[in-house]
Amino acid sequence: MALRIRNFKKSDLETLCQIDRICFPADIAFSRAELAYHLNHPKSITRVAEGLGRILGFAVARMETSSCAHVITLDVIPDARKCRIGTSLMKALHRELKRKRVEAAILEVSTQNLPAQRLYEKLQYQYLEIVSGYYQGREDAYRMGLLFS
Ligand SMILES: CC(C)(COP(=O)(O)OP(=O)(O)OC[C@H]1O[C@@H](n2cnc3c(N)ncnc32)[C@H](O)[C@@H]1OP(=O)(O)O)[C@@H](O)C(=O)NCCC(=O)NCCS
Repeated sequence: MALRIRNFKKSDLETLCQIDRICFPADIAFSRAELAYHLNHPKSITRVAEGLGRILGFAVARMETSSCAHVITLDVIPDARKCRIGTSLMKALHRELKRKRVEAAILEVSTQNLPAQRLYEKLQYQYLEIVSGYYQGREDAYRMGLLFS
């Protein structure tokens, strides 16, 4: 399947909302307003993965400072997983962050989310700390970071 990674368009919002609701439990998924805020934020970078004419996933990062970015979310629809789409989206974000001369990226991942942890490990993210109760006070997260060389 040919995969295309492109920038976010405003008309993607509804589909990305639906994907986020499929990817995360109801109390962790973004509301429409929250996702719209992140996608439209002037310091956000969003990449959307398309294949066979439909959106298969997306990733969002935000520049927190001129040198550090925060990965806000990474979502791939269930029937397109394990095809390197998540990896491609993260690499596309990284390319843009490096182009902007960002030095580091950080993210949080649930301590229960082994698939995402493996993906980030393969991209050379390092475990920095545990954030207790990061997900609605009921689930801890690892904070992970990547230094761009
Ligand atoms: C986590 C997620 C983004 C992975 O997307 P993906 O496109 O399936 O990931 P990739 O195909 O790029 O996988 C890259 C590596 O991650 C690891 N991985 C991915 N899915 C895995 C799984 N189900 N079990 C174990 N390892 C897994 C593997 O090491 C894989 O490398 P490999 O292909 O050489 O085995 C996807 O499962 C998802 O959207 N999950 C729900 C939302 C989520 O958890 N987002 C991350 C929040 S921090």
